[in-house]
Amino acid sequence: MTAPTAALRAPADARQVLRRCRELVRPTLVEAVDGLHPWVGEMAAYSFGWCEVGGIPAEASGGKGVRQALAVLGAEAAGAPGRAGVPAAVAVELVHAFSLLHDDIMDGDQVRRRRPTVWKAYGTGPAVLAGDALFALAVETLAFAPAGPGAVRQLSAALGDLVRGQADDLTFAARPWTGAERVRPEEYRAMAEGKTGALLGCAASLGALLGGAGPATVAALDRAGRHLGLAFQIVDDVLGIWGDPAVTGKPVHGDLRERKKTFPVLAALESGAPEGRRLAGLLEAEVGATERDEAPEVASASEPAELADLIEAAGGRAAASVEVGRHLAAVEEALADVLLEGPAVDELRSLLRFLARRDL
Ligand code: IPE
Ligand code: IPE
Ligand code: MG
Ligand code: MG
Repeated sequence: MTAPTAALRAPADARQVLRRCRELVRPTLVEAVDGLHPWVGEMAAYSFGWCEVGGIPAEASGGKGVRQALAVLGAEAAGAPGRAGVPAAVAVELVHAFSLLHDDIMDGDQVRRRRPTVWKAYGTGPAVLAGDALFALAVETLAFAPAGPGAVRQLSAALGDLVRGQADDLTFAARPWTGAERVRPEEYRAMAEGKTGALLGCAASLGALLGGAGPATVAALDRAGRHLGLAFQIVDDVLGIWGDPAVTGKPVHGDLRERKKTFPVLAALESGAPEGRRLAGLLEAEVGATERDEAPEVASASEPAELADLIEAAGGRAAASVEVGRHLAAVEEALADVLLEGPAVDELRSLLRFLARRDL
């Protein structure tokens, strides 16, 4: 008697899925980066964790590889072998690396992937240039892939959304914490879908496109990836406040120190709870003091740990968790809309669940 394999199959493990996809994609990614100017290529290799400053080979943490995995699984879920999705995987991983290089300059962040950021290690100008090079390389990689023009159009659309999201993120900084001009959770959702969701949606849908999927499947995977991106970004916000820096590879309270308008903060301010009002009072008082030139350093006004406690007490952390759950349900709904095939679908689901917990 043959065993009912589907029923007995152990749930796919997300770490293994990520590792399998990284190994499949790595040779093509290395080959692409090898074609860059050597100095620029070294910065790219440093950001991927392949070398130290100066080019000495290393095996540092180069990121989880979420986007490349989504591209490979997108191709497989469309019924093609994973290698069909490799050009998409390389392109989205290059775009991701480019966006991080520039994002760390914009955010003034000094640590990423447990190491000094590229701009700290090599200088701001060189890091901008390395980001440009990675971007150009991503477009070139896709232009030569099967379905080239359609694939490039899809990537450019995602890039446009990513830039819009980053622009909103930066302009939110100048908006007040309270009152009619405050940033509403709805605006946060549009911003996060752009800066993070667009590329995750693009990864899965580009993989499917290169795997020969039809427009309905491509669109459903894009929708799923965008909701996943929102959940992922909110988890990132939560980890930025309450996460363990040893796990995230980023400094604790970075977003709070920069007074970023992350989801837990906005939800706490909207809560109507007394702790939310106290939080609003502290944040607004800082803005007033800065405008009156009373506080030379905004960061010295309220301790991030005190703000974190108020956000939690006002329900900001719980609201973030509810919001993540909503987007994951929307991911499942999008996936249920189309017929996807084979074990890749289980692996995709396992990866989605992991991304909402992120304990790697
Ligand atoms: C970080 O993305 C930037 C966000 C969109 C939140 P990842 O958490 O996927 O970063 P790496 O690639 O694993 O370092
Ligand atoms: C990163 O957003 C999004 C992009 C790089 C496009 P964040 O600034 O919130 O992410 P981290 O916390 O630096 O990884
Ligand atoms: Mg950042
Ligand atoms: Mg940023």
